[in-house]
Amino acid sequence: MRSWSWLEDNIIILEVCGKNVLSCVKKGYMKDDYVHFFVRRPVRRSPIINRGYFSRFAALRKLLFQFLNSDANLEEDRRTKKQVLSLGAGFDTTYFQLQEEGKAPDLYVELDFKEVTTKKAALIEIHGQLREKVGATALISREKGEVLGDHYKLLPVDLRDIQKLDDVIALANLDPSLPTFIIAECVLIYLDPDSSRAIVGWASKTFSTAVFFLYEQIHPDDAFGEQMIRNLESRGCGLLGIYATPTLEAKERLFLEQGWQRAVAWDMLRVYSKFIDAQERRRHAGEDGREIMWPCAVKNDINKILEVFY
Ligand SMILES: C[S@@+](CC[C@H](N)C(=O)[O-])C[C@H]1O[C@@H](n2cnc3c(N)ncnc32)[C@H](O)[C@@H]1O
Repeated sequence: MRSWSWLEDNIIILEVCGKNVLSCVKKGYMKDDYVHFFVRRPVRRSPIINRGYFSRFAALRKLLFQFLNSDANLEEDRRTKKQVLSLGAGFDTTYFQLQEEGKAPDLYVELDFKEVTTKKAALIEIHGQLREKVGATALISREKGEVLGDHYKLLPVDLRDIQKLDDVIALANLDPSLPTFIIAECVLIYLDPDSSRAIVGWASKTFSTAVFFLYEQIHPDDAFGEQMIRNLESRGCGLLGIYATPTLEAKERLFLEQGWQRAVAWDMLRVYSKFIDAQERRRHAGEDGREIMWPCAVKNDINKILEVFY
């Protein structure tokens, strides 16, 4: 069990993430009817933060929808089941949004430390709008930090414990042979490099057909990076992995060395200028961008998803 100060710092970081999302929602950059259940007090963020969050949100959704819709032209009974695995999901609300939009995959699994899943499970149990999205028959245990629904699972695990990861995906009913979209947003960078490497390798070995969407920091050595690291360290949350993979090339290498067939890493300026629709860009124009990176790696025959980059 980690210390209370660790837990408080982690919850503060999750709240910061949530507040950034809420600030974007309030400014009309994006819609999220669920984030307010996880964030206590809203704040107003600067346009650059709003724009960064919006770009990240839009990029993830675009790729996720490509994945989920990859065989939408087939008759329903011929479509492959699809699953999403979110590592270190925190208070992310993507599953609830997908449910509302009628776009949820057959199975959506979220993993995090027990301290976090306990809090998320309690919030899901308390709030009817969240509760109904996990299904009336879902078993919710605050004590265990678990939610077990037919299409949604929330489970506690320390991601560094690879053997437990195998147990957890079995418990979640994840089928390694089905197409799987793995999400790790601002998670692996907090782990020591050996653990991150092991997780990336485990995912490659475990899932035969998969996309790994990673979003995390690069460039620890410029002025922005130094300040960011100081801020996080002052909260006891060092970016343990950042020096092992400090650049886009290093992130791509990490995936290729761990068995992924193709890896593409872009910084957020490029994502913003090349990936976000021009109309949306004009709506949010006027501020400078920053270097947060966004790599994606794929396995097996769903390379089509990455065609969007070329
Ligand atoms: C900065 S938050 C990001 C949360 C979410 N992915 C998002 O983007 O909003 C990092 C998350 O990773 C989780 N995490 C970090 N190390 C972990 C580990 N070893 N095992 C499980 N979860 C971990 C934290 O508890 C936290 O929820």
